[in-house]
Amino acid sequence: MDKLTKLKSQALDELAGAKSEDQINQIRIKFLGRKGLLTGILRQMGTLPQEQRRATGQLANSIKTELEAELKLKQTHIRLNQNRKKTSPKLDVTLPGRRPALGKKHPITQTIEEISNIFLSLGFQIAQGPEVESDYYNFEALNIPADHPARDMHDTFYITDKLLLRTHTSPVQIHVMEKIKPPIRIIAPGKAYRCDADHTHTPMFHQVEGLLVDDLVTFGDLKGVLNLFAQRMFGADTKLRFRPSFFPFTEPSAEIDIACVMCKGEGCRVCSRTGWLEILGAGMVDPAVFEKVGYDADKYTGFAFGMGVERIAMLKYGINDIRLFFENDLRFLAQF
Ligand code: PHE
Repeated sequence: MDKLTKLKSQALDELAGAKSEDQINQIRIKFLGRKGLLTGILRQMGTLPQEQRRATGQLANSIKTELEAELKLKQTHIRLNQNRKKTSPKLDVTLPGRRPALGKKHPITQTIEEISNIFLSLGFQIAQGPEVESDYYNFEALNIPADHPARDMHDTFYITDKLLLRTHTSPVQIHVMEKIKPPIRIIAPGKAYRCDADHTHTPMFHQVEGLLVDDLVTFGDLKGVLNLFAQRMFGADTKLRFRPSFFPFTEPSAEIDIACVMCKGEGCRVCSRTGWLEILGAGMVDPAVFEKVGYDADKYTGFAFGMGVERIAMLKYGINDIRLFFENDLRFLAQF
């Protein structure tokens, strides 16, 4: 029995050192083959005295079964290893892990924040109003009565006769002036809606409204604030041009152009060879609007402006189709 145990550990030692299927086969032959060492002992069983035969026989057989199992296991390991080497490269545990992708702010959100920060630094505060508006706030109170031809400028989405999606952010002016007395210095970023769609118009778009009311506010203040805004937004050498225009809620009114950001005023396709691009509507608050909110039009003056956020983002980033902002193609969005 001693001999058997020694034989077993010898076989397991050799098996542990085996590196190929060939070597495993040789070990099998050496111990379990027809002329193998264990086979030899099993053959001699008959020569043992009767009382030892049973126990020794049992041990020899269990060692044989165990060895066979170990041989098979080792063989499987070696085969698996060979396959793995063939099919996959070594695992490099020093490679950096995969980070989860982080989302970013939408370019329109980024632009609104950039615009807002410039005005916040000038002491303006942020105001908000509803997107579903009454006819009164969107039109009437802004000096645009029913049947006024200026309503043609707005392709309005009506909900009922008197309820609509606001066509601009100007109704926020009214909400603010109804609530607080001058001095007022607010901007109102938000969504506006018009029934219009092509490469420069979407049915929903964003505006930033501005309103400043105090005594002694002049058109010069408006020019100063807007010039400063343009220079911070588009660069220190940015030039603005003020053109006379008309809005029912401002008098006098102006449309404001920026020297074309593509050609720097030389004239190109983007600016239709004029060298200028329109970015803003503005003017001095019309006394008729002050009357609607119960302000003394003899005491107060103020200016208001409204700009299109998509327009500004397109100019700033050289984007030629407004619809790109709303298609949510990650290849576009990931660039900002
Ligand atoms: N509300 C005007 C528009 O949407 C812009 C504007 C705002 C003009 C404030 C003057 C003053 O076209």
